[in-house]
Amino acid sequence: MSARTNLPSWKFLQDHAKSMKLHHMRDLFKNSDYRFNDFNLKLPAFLFDYSKNLITKETMQGLFTLARDCELELWREKMFKGDRINSTEDRSVLHVALRDRSGTPLIVDGENLTEKVNNALEQINEFSEKVRTGQWKGYSGKRIKDVVNIGVGGSNLGPQMVTEALKHYSDNSVRVHYVSNVDGTQIADILRPLDPENTLFIVSSKTFTTTETMTNAQTAMKWLVTSAFDESAIGKHFVAVSSNKVNACEFGIKEENIFDMWDWVGGRFSLWSAIGLPIAIDLGFDKFIELLEGAHEMDMHFKNAPLEQNAPVIMALLSVWNCTFLGSQSQAILPYDQPLHKLTAYLQQAEMESNGKSVNWQGKEVDYATVPSIWGEIGINGQHAFYQYLHQSNNVVPADFIGSVESVTPVQGHHDTLMANFFAQTEALMSGVNEQQVREDLKAKGRTQEYIDKVAPHKVHKGNRPTNTILLDRIEPKSLGSLIALYENKIFSQGIILEICSFDQWGVELGKGLANRIYDEIKDESLVANHDSSTRELINYYKLIKAK
Ligand code: F6P
Repeated sequence: MSARTNLPSWKFLQDHAKSMKLHHMRDLFKNSDYRFNDFNLKLPAFLFDYSKNLITKETMQGLFTLARDCELELWREKMFKGDRINSTEDRSVLHVALRDRSGTPLIVDGENLTEKVNNALEQINEFSEKVRTGQWKGYSGKRIKDVVNIGVGGSNLGPQMVTEALKHYSDNSVRVHYVSNVDGTQIADILRPLDPENTLFIVSSKTFTTTETMTNAQTAMKWLVTSAFDESAIGKHFVAVSSNKVNACEFGIKEENIFDMWDWVGGRFSLWSAIGLPIAIDLGFDKFIELLEGAHEMDMHFKNAPLEQNAPVIMALLSVWNCTFLGSQSQAILPYDQPLHKLTAYLQQAEMESNGKSVNWQGKEVDYATVPSIWGEIGINGQHAFYQYLHQSNNVVPADFIGSVESVTPVQGHHDTLMANFFAQTEALMSGVNEQQVREDLKAKGRTQEYIDKVAPHKVHKGNRPTNTILLDRIEPKSLGSLIALYENKIFSQGIILEICSFDQWGVELGKGLANRIYDEIKDESLVANHDSSTRELINYYKLIKAK
């Protein structure tokens, strides 16, 4: 048995979960009119209501004790200090330093990281301004109108999610596009309407080895050089963001066009670094800084607030409660705010690549559920797709509802309709409707007894389905920064409690290595004879049909 499951607080929560499963949130709300007051936090960027979880004060006390038993506060301090808490890669975890606006120097291993971060920010400032104002010219002397970010995973999802979320704050001086998929259809579609003379490419890759990104960057280079008839055009149209300068230079990017990032920034936590360059180009450097400020504000809350008042810690504990102790296997992220339409995809990587693991820090298999699978969709669209499942399937899916008091694009009547649904859904998921109520409603509508007997069981909603509600005043750079940092710090806390190495991603390596070998086999003329029979026959079928 692992150390975590031996903790008295863990054992308490296991027993407590059994008794809490006998309760219904509907009754917990009926029994206390103060339930909301007991389980909400008001932070500068948003109101966080977690009262619609199957918890009591005793549950929360048990969870806070667990967090303390797991030395969460100590680990939090280690992260902020720059200790090498990414143990399997022997690295610090310092995305928080990228947005530290306090001006206090952070010295790690004798190096002043604050200075490095500030220099990088200055480089982002200068370059983004040049592009936005037209001072940066393409090979034929024309200004840049389109920027194409080529990157995948953390080098794509973060900046793309943010540019989408904040597009109403853009002055559209430049259009920003994202290419991530190695499926040529995507880059072909994006390049088709663009003019090479006005197009700038940002090749974003921390490692500068990712096959998909390299393939797309090569295609983009060919597209440019074919138009310019001159390789020197690359210097005016290609910049890179990478911690691997050698590879970026070898690829053909000029050294002065390479923006640095560091191994102490994980890819999925890197939008605050030069990986956020497309954000700065799209919105302007000031807005990029506001995003960082919002994240820093959340970091300070996470660092300093007692666990009992700490939003990321509470979110992490609730996720552990719902999944590890109550047995939910997935978690929905449901933004009721069109600008956040890429948030779920972003959080899928952030949460699942970080904590989707099954061995603990000592490399021992854990005997408890770790992170749930994360899925979801913009609220209203989801309502007409999978909410049936949320309400009536026999799987309980805890859900985060994220909305704003004010829309960034007020169109008369729309926002109140949207928010009426937002509030209705969490209430319905919590309270449900039992058979007796269903029968009474049908009777009141004058339905026959025969009809009532037939239909009533189908209309029962068991309810008791946990939700968190995050209600922002409005989506703006600062509040978005806080929201993202809320989840990042939640992921960190969850990893500590579950004793998971949150900052490596060995699980993506096996498939990558195999894909490289299969690529060579596809290119080879002969049929393959190795692999399992399924994989072998699929590859050979592909080769035979392709060769026809
Ligand atoms: O998907 C695996 C991964 O290594 C992610 O962690 C990372 O964000 C992505 O690939 C892209 O990596 P890179 O920025 O090095 O190209």
